[in-house]
This record gives sequence, structure tokens and C-alpha cells, in this order.
Amino acid sequence: MNVENIDSVLHEERLFEPSSDFVKSATINSAESLAALRRAADDDYQGFWAKLARDEISWHKPFSNVLDESNAPHYQWFNDGLMNVSYNCLDRHLQTRGDNTAIVFEGEKGDITSLTYRDLHAQVCTFANALKAQGVVKGDRVVIYMPMTPEAVVAMQACARIGAIHSVVFGGFSGESLKDRIEDAGAKMLITADGGNRGGKIVELKQAADKALASGCASIESVIVFKRTGHNVEFNRDRDVWWHNAIEGMDSVCEPEWVEAEHPLFLLYTSGSTGKPKGIQHSSAGYLLNSILTMKWVFDIKDDDIYWCTADVGWITGHTYVAYGPLAVGSTALIYEGAPTVPDNGRFWDICQRHKVTIFYTAPTAIRALMKSGDEIPAKYDLSSIRLLGTVGEPINPEAWIWYHKVIGGARCPIVDTWWQTETGANMIAPVPGAVATKPGSCTLPLPGIIADVVDEEGNSITTPDKGGYLVIRKPWPSMLRTIWGDDERYVSTYWPKFDGKFYLAGDSARRDKDGYFWIMGRIDDVLNVSGHRLGTMEVESALVAHPRVAEAAVVGRPDEIKGEAIFAYVVLRGDRPEDGIDEALTKELRAWVSEQIGPIAKPDDIRYADNLPKTRSGKIMRRLLRTIAKGEEITQDTSTLENEAILLQLQGKV
Ligand code: PRX
Repeated sequence: MNVENIDSVLHEERLFEPSSDFVKSATINSAESLAALRRAADDDYQGFWAKLARDEISWHKPFSNVLDESNAPHYQWFNDGLMNVSYNCLDRHLQTRGDNTAIVFEGEKGDITSLTYRDLHAQVCTFANALKAQGVVKGDRVVIYMPMTPEAVVAMQACARIGAIHSVVFGGFSGESLKDRIEDAGAKMLITADGGNRGGKIVELKQAADKALASGCASIESVIVFKRTGHNVEFNRDRDVWWHNAIEGMDSVCEPEWVEAEHPLFLLYTSGSTGKPKGIQHSSAGYLLNSILTMKWVFDIKDDDIYWCTADVGWITGHTYVAYGPLAVGSTALIYEGAPTVPDNGRFWDICQRHKVTIFYTAPTAIRALMKSGDEIPAKYDLSSIRLLGTVGEPINPEAWIWYHKVIGGARCPIVDTWWQTETGANMIAPVPGAVATKPGSCTLPLPGIIADVVDEEGNSITTPDKGGYLVIRKPWPSMLRTIWGDDERYVSTYWPKFDGKFYLAGDSARRDKDGYFWIMGRIDDVLNVSGHRLGTMEVESALVAHPRVAEAAVVGRPDEIKGEAIFAYVVLRGDRPEDGIDEALTKELRAWVSEQIGPIAKPDDIRYADNLPKTRSGKIMRRLLRTIAKGEEITQDTSTLENEAILLQLQGKV
């Protein structure tokens, strides 16, 4: 456990009330109406969720069971109801909003497409029929490895429509990572593209997919390939079919498959504290419910909003706030294919100006990077359409928060700092912007019905202000993960290991201030947060030791001004340590190696060579010591148990 994360260091006192303009049009516009929602949840927890589920979801067969706790912690919600997520995102809007824009897409090269709800519905139905024609049936797993184009959303929605379980793999992951995820899920089909445009280059998705399939993935029967870039790629006619050929002649009507509320909607792999990513399994109705509610409560979504969440569909944020939430509430979602730096650091603001974005949701890493490029760039654009800003994925430092507030939000837009996880499915702790004043760096208060707490080792609620502890959720909520795919035991031991299995353990430490506001302090496990993306230290270590020259490796995080955390690797080689600990060619090779094994986001920023790693007498790597060294801080830990104290100098890069 990262005990150093339990001590609070940050104290921020500024309070920002929402402007009267914002409050005037906000759906929840007073502390009283928010308090009434919280009271309703306190008075009758199940009744609260049941009413919302009836109001917000269109059911094919209504549910009568609300929460089934008989197999806890495998909780079930609304489990005798039947519904379909794609129906809820598309069909139910056709009468009222069929001609409204569902998706506005901008490619990195500037190509723009706009799809109405009717267009999107037709595309999803057509593609769903193509999936069926390829033999995909309810319950089959389909892996999606796509660029950020509307077709990625079409593929996800089409799976949902026929009850197939999608597992989206981020396009920045390598063929090796793709293979692991395909194999773990036992996927029958892979949907990919010839490539995508990012950073002025082509992301070679098909090439990586071919590599994955050449080295395993026996369960894959066919591959659908969307033509995005049009450059030459290998094509295996026995296995691959072009998207445009697969949909040829398909009907644009496809009756949704009515699935049980608990039917898995998707798996999404995320890092934990072992080397093997976990397939987080989400449900259909419960997931959809919190997606809808948070669109309304946190993003205050209205019919005329242009909502832009910059996350890739390969992450949970891109699931809930690109592919499902905005559509379920019938709003307009903007999708951008590429990097924020093409052609220059003004791209995001240029898109906001041209498409009149009203709600903008991004990660602190992006905010910090764009802040660094100066105020002159955003000043060139008219950002007055924006009325609400959001952040997600990592703690935001007050300096970046204030910049975002002033320079991007013109000091008029509330900022919703949303704490949540792949596992929670939707925002959990976040401001309801018309009713809660914000503080830079705090995700503020849990949403109605989310019973979050900060507890000590014994599971007692910590009431002393600013004292850190474990962040837990005391009651099951509809969009919680259901299990880890194929590994119920790991689900129980990871999320319910302490406190007699009574609380969901988030894996973060947090504190509450005197006003009860939550401040996330960091992970308590060996999970890194690089640019808002989760990576297990063990995953990077496993990749490193798979290199023929590496005998042992230990990976820790160190603070990074832009990325939040950077990856610091200590490596013991087979054979001799390089002279003076420097071997630039090998360092380059190892970085490229990790990139190939996992993906570019996992590349170590620093690699330091030592004769051995610091271990306790019982053989445990002294990670805390390694973290101290990585931060360049003075060593205060007891190092007397070290077998070879001389290696301290090597680890510090001094010899
Ligand atoms: O440590 C917390 C951090 O990101 C972790 C979840 O990562 P992931 O499952 O990849 O989902 C990211 C997008 C929801 C959390 O355990 N985290 C997420 N949001 C915040 C945050 N840390 C501080 N403030 C946040 N708003």
C-alpha cells in the first residue's frame, strides 16, 4: 500500500459559486432540490433507484425486483426486467428527435460528418444485421479496435442491439495487448480499421491486429475492417471482410434483442496490481441508468447542447460519455479523431469555436499541456458558446483548474471535477453544478444515492477533517461492475477484501475537508495514473523482464508536471551493469520494447540500471524507497536491512 498517499498535503480554500446565469437555466438549481434527492435516497434506497429506473429507461418488460443481494457482492439490479441499451439510445428518440444531430464528427485532417438520430439508427441497424450475418449472436464477445470515428460508436451500439458483448481495446495499445484481451474474452469477432489519423501519422491498427492474430487468438472467426485511411494493408480473404462489403445489401431495420437488465453490455480491460489486466464486466440497465442520470445531474444536459467529451472510446470515459450517455439522453455528441496538437495547440479551441461546443469534458493532462502552450492560443478563439467544463481521470492541480476556469471558461463556467473509475461505470463524486459550489482540486460531494465514505483500517468513518483514509462506497449502486470476466474470485478479493466485504474498496485514498468535500489523494495499490490512464506497475515490469537482457525490474511512479505521473523503471540486467549506469542504446531499445509489448503510453520515462534491487530480508522489493528515489527526495526510510547498501548510490544514479 502506498501509505505516503494517505497524508494530506494539499489545502485549497477558494470556493466558486455557480454564476446566476448558470443557475437560472440549470436543471437542479438549488441546494434544496439536491438535498431533496439525497433525502429520497436516504429514506428509501431501493425505492429511489426504482423510480429513476422506471422514469429514465424504456423497458420492454418492466422489472419488479430492484436490488438482489442474495449473491453479494455479485449484486444484481432490476434483474427481471427486459430492455435494450441501443433501443434506449436510438429508437426512442426517432419520433421526437429523429432529425436532430446525434453525432458531429471531425477527422484530424478536417473532414466533417454529421449524423442525425435517424442516420445513426439506420447505420447501427445495418451494421447489426452484418454482425448477425457473420454469425454473431447474443452473448458472443466482439473486440473493437478502432480509431475515434463514428463507426466505433456504430460498432458498439450494433453489438448492444443484438446482445453481443463488446470489448473495446484502445487503439494506442499494441498487438500484444490486443491479443491478451482477445484471448481472455474468448472473442469471436474483431472489428478494426486499416488505420486512424493521429498526430499527423497513421496509426497502424490493421498491422497490429494482424500481429495479434498471427500469434494466437484462436477464438476469432472473422475480422471486419473499416476503411478509414485507405492506405495499403494486408488482407486475408479467408478471414477479413471490409466493413463496406459486410454491410452491402443489409437491411436498415434490425429489431433489438430484448435482454435481461443484467445481461453484460461490455467488458473493458483495465490495469490492476497484478501483471494481467482485468476484464471489467458491466451490465445493461444499471449501467445505462447512471450514465443517463450523470448526463443530467453533472452535465446538466439540454436538447440544444453540443457535448464534447474528448476521451477515446477505448477508455471508460469514452464509453459512458461518448458512446452511450449523450445518445441515451438524445443530445448531440462531438467526436474528434485526432491529437490536440494538430495542426497546433489551438485545435481543441478551434473545434469548440467552429462547432459551438457548449459542454467540454477533458483530462487534467490535456489541460496542463495546453496551459503550458500559453494563453495567447486560446485567446484567438471565441469560446463563448461553452457553458460548462469538466475534468476526469486524475487529480487536477489548483493552478490548472484556475487556468481552465479563467482562460477557457471565461470565469463564467462551472467546472465539474468528476471522480469515478472503469469499475463504477459513471461519475460517482462530482459537483451538481447548479447546486454545489466548487473548490479547485476537489471532486466535491458524492452524487445522490452514492454512499461514499472515507474510512480507517478498521472500516470506521473518518470524521476528522483532512485526515486521509480509504475511499469506499458503502452500498451497491446500479452501474457498478458486476464481476471480472472469468474471475469471480479476483472480483471479490480485489474490491471487497477488507471490512468483512461490506464496502466497495475503490483503491484510492481520500480525505474530506471541514465542509465534507472529498479530495482524492492517490492510489493505495500499485497502479499508476499516467495522463489519466491506468497502468499497473506489474504490467510494465512483466514487459521489461520479457526482454532477453533484463533479469529483474521494478517500476514506480514519479510526479510529472504534465502527465500527472511518469514511469520510472529500475532494471537489473543479465550480465554486467553498464559502465556508470549509462547505456543509451539499450535504454532506447527497452523503451521501444515496452511500447511494443503494451503500447506507447507504457514507455518508461526513466530507466536506471542497478546490480540488484533493494529488498527486505523477506525478499520484498522496497517500493516505497524506490518511489522516494524516483522523486529525487532524501531517503528517510530505514535502509539497514538492505543486503547491499552500496546499490543505493546506483539507484540514485550517483555512480
Ligand atoms: O485514482 C482515481 C483516478 O483514476 C482512477 C480510475 O481510473 P480509470 O478506471 O482508468 O478511469 C478513469 C476515468 C474515470 C481512480 O481510481 N481518478 C479518476 N477521476 C479522478 C481521479 N483522481 C482524482 N480526481 C478525479 N476526478
